[in-house]
Amino acid sequence: SGEEEFARRSWWFDKVGALEQIASEHGPCYVYSMQKVNEQLDRLLSLKSIDRFFYAMKANSNAALLSAVEEKQLGFECVSIEEVRHILNLFPSINPQRILFTPNFAPREEYEEALRLGVNLTLDNLYPLQQWGEIFDQQSLILRIDTGTGRGHHQHVKTAGNEAKFGIPVSDVLGAKDLFEQYQIKVVGLHCHVGSGILSSENWLENGRVLQELAQHFPTIKFLDLGGGLGIVEKPQQQALDLAAVDASLVKLKERLGGIELWLEPGRFISAESGVLLARVTQLKGKSGARYLGVETGMNSLIRPALYGAYHPIVNLTRLKSPAVERYTVVGPICETGDKLGLERLLPVSHEGDVMLIANAGAYGFVMSSQYNMRSPAKEVVFENLVK
Ligand code: LLP
Repeated sequence: SGEEEFARRSWWFDKVGALEQIASEHGPCYVYSMQKVNEQLDRLLSLKSIDRFFYAMKANSNAALLSAVEEKQLGFECVSIEEVRHILNLFPSINPQRILFTPNFAPREEYEEALRLGVNLTLDNLYPLQQWGEIFDQQSLILRIDTGTGRGHHQHVKTAGNEAKFGIPVSDVLGAKDLFEQYQIKVVGLHCHVGSGILSSENWLENGRVLQELAQHFPTIKFLDLGGGLGIVEKPQQQALDLAAVDASLVKLKERLGGIELWLEPGRFISAESGVLLARVTQLKGKSGARYLGVETGMNSLIRPALYGAYHPIVNLTRLKSPAVERYTVVGPICETGDKLGLERLLPVSHEGDVMLIANAGAYGFVMSSQYNMRSPAKEVVFENLVK
């Protein structure tokens, strides 16, 4: 099956014994490979076009992962004041300029605290300036622009265009120049983030062009932040994002920017493939032609399939070498019909106690988990900490 080929290329393929051991000791758990995280970080850091990276920590805020990011001296992109505080607590000597705060519809106090802390602050909206302009007096600010076209793996994760709540339309920005002058705001950067799980390499150039055009109206601009959204292969037939093509196109853009920097804030690209969710088989059942394979945790640990119809490869670790001959719908123990981790997956004949591995679960997995049904979600473990 397609899953076999995928498994062979994954970091965990030669670690099956150790992972089975971890699953039997810890119960349902997310296992992260810092080696894989570092590999992804290095791929990004090799891009010639990008001056600074900020890890979108909403994707996975595990401390080991944040430390790996810190070690390579990337910055952090935060969406709540709690995320900002978390980074400052973990890394007390970090330069606050390595933190980007990108709130939307946040209360006034969060903006005030961000300004006190000296982190980079992005306005998603003109409301804060119109209503509480005095708190921004003489400050340097970043503006989040709606470049017009949302992209991403699902409608719910498209964050630009008419359907999305995010960003300032280009025409509104130009109309607000008086407001910036009134409070002597220095617009130091333009930002956009149009969605998540994007596999088309032209995306960042297209958005960059919109920002470049707009930047001509703001002589104080030092950087354009092209957001995150770099996708990874989820379904077997998908083509990987051509990172070299992204880089080549942005190198050209940069040549025309006259010293303005390019920033990027990926989340998923750094952490998704580093994480797997392990869960043991609880029960099997046949009903009206369908075969259900139950595992000990479900949408309370990984909500992406239920929320977006997201596809996560699933393998039976215990029987990795057995032929995949049976179609199972893999379900969790939560009282919802939508509690499905995978639909009609081709798997080996499976049995109670087998360890199932749900792949590409290192981004938007644990961080979106819940206590629904009072079932504790899978906990997190770092592979290298458990196995030397
Ligand atoms: N920058 C901003 C302003 C963002 O809102 C996001 C993600 C990122 C960067 C990072 O995007 P990434 O590189 O990870 O695609 N829960 C959804 C994804 C939501 C993304 C929210 N914003 C999922 O599981 O697919």
